[in-house]
Amino acid sequence: MENLCALTQAALAAVNTAASLADLDKIRVHYLGKKGEISLLAQGLRQLPAAERPARGAEINSARGQVLEAVEQRRQCLEQEALSARLAAESVDVTLPGRGQGLGSVHPVTRTMERITDYFSSMGFGVACGPEVEDEFHNFEALNIPAHHPARAMHDTFYTETGAVLRTHTSPVQVRALRQLAAGKGRLPLAVICPGKVYRCDSDQTHSPMFHQVEGLYVGEAGERTSFADLKSLLSRFLRAFFERDDLQLRFRPSYFPFTEPSAEVDIAWGEGTGEPRWLEVLGCGMVHPAVFRHAGLDPAQFQGFAFGLGVERFAMLRYGVQDLRQFFDNSIPFLEQFH
Ligand code: FA5
Ligand code: MG
Repeated sequence: MENLCALTQAALAAVNTAASLADLDKIRVHYLGKKGEISLLAQGLRQLPAAERPARGAEINSARGQVLEAVEQRRQCLEQEALSARLAAESVDVTLPGRGQGLGSVHPVTRTMERITDYFSSMGFGVACGPEVEDEFHNFEALNIPAHHPARAMHDTFYTETGAVLRTHTSPVQVRALRQLAAGKGRLPLAVICPGKVYRCDSDQTHSPMFHQVEGLYVGEAGERTSFADLKSLLSRFLRAFFERDDLQLRFRPSYFPFTEPSAEVDIAWGEGTGEPRWLEVLGCGMVHPAVFRHAGLDPAQFQGFAFGLGVERFAMLRYGVQDLRQFFDNSIPFLEQFH
């Protein structure tokens, strides 16, 4: 009896000081498991005289019950502690500032193209589109650039395996617009711009293999005498409005394109204030060549107009003070974030 009492006390003490659920389980097995100390006492009953067994059995059962109950209580207590610890560790402090999500912004080249488009829309120009994968007829032939013409070499063309070309400029859209006119769709005066991607095998500080142009085409009404002065006036006004400067330094430089005659290129002073200005070419322009009208199925004696092609990245460079055009396509987030 004394033995059982001491054993029960020891078991209860061990249970009540168990440090973890794992410890508690070991203690339970030690006393109450199949070969546990209390279980062995119960098995020893068989050796007792039959008369003593019931009383002794009841005592052992009672001890067993006590220890079992203590184990259960301790288990609940340890589980509660574990839960509290977990909740404390995993708690979320809702008062902390959030990480936030940065809003993206319009790419500076897109923004520049929209600014150019907005200006010409306000001047009454419509917007036309054409395919980026073109045929040689629209990209070259119809623009008075026959095969073996040296101007083809100047274009550094990407050809596809099937002999199509990635358009080297937006001028083929001129051809498409003129052919529509010849087909009786659309009327005069015809005033369209075409913003889009163009491709050339070309890369340095002011050239990239994919870049954007905005083409412009104006064909006057019958009897309207459209002149180079109209072209020069439109472009000069546009450039001053675009750069928001009346004193913008620009020059119309005589040039050559097979599809315009006469032709010019426009340069704008770059990095002013440091002695001699550096000139950056931003566009090509001229009066539509009679051969272009002819290729489109129009009689050059009856139609007259002008065209121009702007390099969008060059405008963006000048407007934002970017030194290397290729930066627009590096996709560096810190660079692009400057244009928010
Ligand atoms: C042309 O592409 C003519 N189609 C423009 C034109 C249209 C003339 C209508 C007359 C009538 P050019 O190759 O010069 O011309 O290119 C026009 C503009 O695109 C250049 O002034 C320049 O601003 C820009 N540009 C040319 N090559 C690149 C390049 N690799 N990367 C970025 N911009 C370029
Ligand atoms: Mg040029």
